[in-house]
Amino acid sequence: MSKTVLTGFSIAFLLFSSSFAIEGFRPVKAKNGMVVCGEPIACNVGLQVLKEGGNAVDASVAVAFTLAVTYPNAGNLGGGGFMIFRNAANNIFALDYREKAPIAASRDMYLDSSGTVIDKASTLGYRAAGVPGTVAGLWEAHKKFGRLKWKRLLAPAIKLAETGFVIDAFQAAALQSATEDFNKFSSSKTIFTKKGEPFKTGDRLVQKDLSKTLKRIAKKGAAGFYYGKTAGRIALDMQHNGGLITEEDLHRYKPVWREAIEGTYRGYTFYSMPPPSSGGIVLSEILNTLELFEVSKMDINSSAQIRLWVEIERQAYADRAQWLGDPDFVENPQARLISKKYAKTIKQSLHYFSAGCSDSIKVKPIRGRESDQTTHFSITDRWGNAVSNTFTLNGNYGSRAVAEGTGVLLNNEMDDFSIKPGFPNSYGLVGTVANSITSEKRMLSSMTPTIITKNDSLFLVIGGPGGSKIITTVAQVISNVIDHKMNIRQAIENPRFHHQWKPDVIFMERERFSKDTRNNLENSGYKLEYKTYMGYAQGILFNKKTKTYSGWSDPRSDGKAAGY
Ligand code: DON
Repeated sequence: MSKTVLTGFSIAFLLFSSSFAIEGFRPVKAKNGMVVCGEPIACNVGLQVLKEGGNAVDASVAVAFTLAVTYPNAGNLGGGGFMIFRNAANNIFALDYREKAPIAASRDMYLDSSGTVIDKASTLGYRAAGVPGTVAGLWEAHKKFGRLKWKRLLAPAIKLAETGFVIDAFQAAALQSATEDFNKFSSSKTIFTKKGEPFKTGDRLVQKDLSKTLKRIAKKGAAGFYYGKTAGRIALDMQHNGGLITEEDLHRYKPVWREAIEGTYRGYTFYSMPPPSSGGIVLSEILNTLELFEVSKMDINSSAQIRLWVEIERQAYADRAQWLGDPDFVENPQARLISKKYAKTIKQSLHYFSAGCSDSIKVKPIRGRESDQTTHFSITDRWGNAVSNTFTLNGNYGSRAVAEGTGVLLNNEMDDFSIKPGFPNSYGLVGTVANSITSEKRMLSSMTPTIITKNDSLFLVIGGPGGSKIITTVAQVISNVIDHKMNIRQAIENPRFHHQWKPDVIFMERERFSKDTRNNLENSGYKLEYKTYMGYAQGILFNKKTKTYSGWSDPRSDGKAAGY
């Protein structure tokens, strides 16, 4: 191993393998509250807030701001996300704090004069950034539901940014993988490299500018980000580097409360995110159709089970590509797509005896692209409130550009738009004109923060990162729990597979499915492609009888579940 460069991903895999083998299948249990998140320091911060009498929203605010410091890969001030909140009285709230296109954005902004996509224009640097929504979203959630003082909730993040934290092996590998890009932006180079060289495990990451920005937010709330010094510096740096975000963009940003997608699955009720995330609708299509089959009688991870899922996913992702976009700009045929009636028509069209064919589903493929870092946390408290929150910069460390003088890493979420009709991305995820770029429009997402109840009592809080694979990750964990009666740890650790219509392949976790399963699939005409792992689920199950939370953080990453 000595000469091998360990990436964050291979480290995650090692951790995954070892924890898988040594500890068996016991999740973490707690009576009063639980925090499950993608990074241990942030997890501990959230737990402390719960112990001090904070509720799930308070803990979420503290965890999110801490992740912006200790998990800069995806935790953020310069990105956006979605939150599903369930209060103890079983009311559900869905908060959209997704980024939006700057006012000056336009449909062909990533094409050159001959109509060719400009390499990396929508992924690297200032022009790739949408107007950030995170700070406004957290401020809004806290204003409506918080118990503890806003300042108290930001204090741990401020301290960690100011005095630094020790970089672990996972973070060191991830920073190293992005060093070449950080070096392209002087503001990023100063913070995220050691004079251009990569940080190593055990080094300390100090983020002084970020701590000052956090202090302004602590003092002034969302205005500390969207107005004054922070906004001014972001806008100025944008101007200097060809970015589009202006102070007016920042002033105009507003998070939106939306009506959650609600559905049922075998007597359970699920709530998930509506557009501009595709998560809730695609999840509904998958679960509604799956419900028409006796899944619990199928052998888990068998070729028969995988084929059923794959054929359902093929249709659900084709619908995603064809129809979905920002509801403030396009009409999503939501009611039809999430109806039980539509699931019956999907059932009728499924292929049972040989592989289906994505080209036989007639929708016009237009480009959409997603990449691979995001972070999710699930939090429950002593009152029975629950938060399921996924937020992101899109790519690992987003656009890789820090707005000078703010410490804020900017997202590259503009890449989630369809930037050119008919242009497939490296991940093969496609979209339509419903998701083309328009001034102030939100780009389509796959983030799927989800909460499930049974007879109005909390049952499951689940979500995770994984780009297009988020939705199938969440669906599989749900089915593992409900159909296959797994505990939360088993459900999360079970091997994953994924199909997204285009490309027409089944993505499978490497070396985690039997030879039989793989042979049967190939013999039926499916193309298989292997990934080290897919998605990092973060989940909490609530046992109503014993009044106990069981939590588990996916060992595919290096997060943590902690309760009290
Ligand atoms: O909003 C989306 O769907 C993407 N920007 C999420 C990217 C992602 O999950 C990458 N993570 N692993």
